[in-house]
Amino acid sequence: MASSGIERLIRSDLVDFSGYAARTSPETLEGKVEVPVESIVKLDANENLYGCSPRVNRALATYPDLNIYPDDGQTRLRKLLEGYAGVDAKRIVAGSGSNQLIDLVLRLFINKGDEIINCVPTFAIFRFSTELCGGTLVEVPRDEDFKVNVNAVKAAITEKTKIIFLVNPNNPTGTITPRQGILEILDTGLPVLVDEAYYEFSGETVVPLVSQYENLMVLRTFSKWAGLAGLRVGYGIFPPKIADYLLKIKIPYNVNVAALVAVQESLKDIDYLLERVRAIITERERLFGELQKLKWLKPFPSRANFIFCSVLNGKARELKQKLQDKGILVRYFDQPMLRDCIRISVGKPEHTDTLIKALQEIGG
Ligand SMILES: Cc1ncc(COP(=O)(O)O)c(C=O)c1O
Repeated sequence: MASSGIERLIRSDLVDFSGYAARTSPETLEGKVEVPVESIVKLDANENLYGCSPRVNRALATYPDLNIYPDDGQTRLRKLLEGYAGVDAKRIVAGSGSNQLIDLVLRLFINKGDEIINCVPTFAIFRFSTELCGGTLVEVPRDEDFKVNVNAVKAAITEKTKIIFLVNPNNPTGTITPRQGILEILDTGLPVLVDEAYYEFSGETVVPLVSQYENLMVLRTFSKWAGLAGLRVGYGIFPPKIADYLLKIKIPYNVNVAALVAVQESLKDIDYLLERVRAIITERERLFGELQKLKWLKPFPSRANFIFCSVLNGKARELKQKLQDKGILVRYFDQPMLRDCIRISVGKPEHTDTLIKALQEIGG
């Protein structure tokens, strides 16, 4: 408990706030792993190991106006996103990563004590942002194949429910929620936030439904398919009135000019980027087959750029550490519903080869 000095004055509900456990940064592993930091294989944060479009690097190297603030109304950016997402710019708001939009949506809707329905296990940022806003997270467990239990979601609704979250495909499990299930949840009339961070890998989207459903909000990102995680740019598609509110409450200039240039250049290079998305999907299926051969792992089918695995010998923590010692980072989970599990991002073929060789050496 905070008790003295300046700490005494902070918000009492944040004293025991646990924060967000971000992945290990390679630079913190200098000298602690068997390979030089530059050779670390990062399969822990669902980044795109092909990188971004070379057009982005070229344009950023010569961009002249870094001394000028971006357009706060995101006019050009929203127009570019209109073309890509196929919805009117008045529905679009961009953020410094889609994570920022999750935070903004919660700030807009949540009063202390309001409830948010979350289909667990899922992306940890929902818990983080809900707690930060003083909301209460109501957790509805997915079934043993990590499918959303639509009836249980509906049964969890109370008069305090403000938003229902759905991640599609889900992180960390890679599971899709079929359109029918999402429609049933939308028919409750409550605001539904569908996070489609991995849309380009799954091909599944509810964006075409936005003009039909006034309660539908969809989030997308450039972090995964376009390889721009480090630049932080995502966007959301909202009912126009909600988009207006979000633009009003966001921090000024929330998307920087480098991110704007990067979006513009990525969208000029869609074929190149989608070719790499297809390569990652092909690699995902090869990795899945290789993981299946290891009898002590149970990989789950995935529609995203990662594969979730149960470690059947109960040694997931040890496995994560042994892989890390060899310079391979994967995400390890040890929470209710995610006991002894790891999540492996899909990289290039050589990353799969390095990982599989390491897994064979470590053994079950
Ligand atoms: C479901 C989901 N939503 C959002 C994000 C974060 O996206 P961004 O980098 O745009 O903040 C991630 C990243 O891992 C994710 O898995």
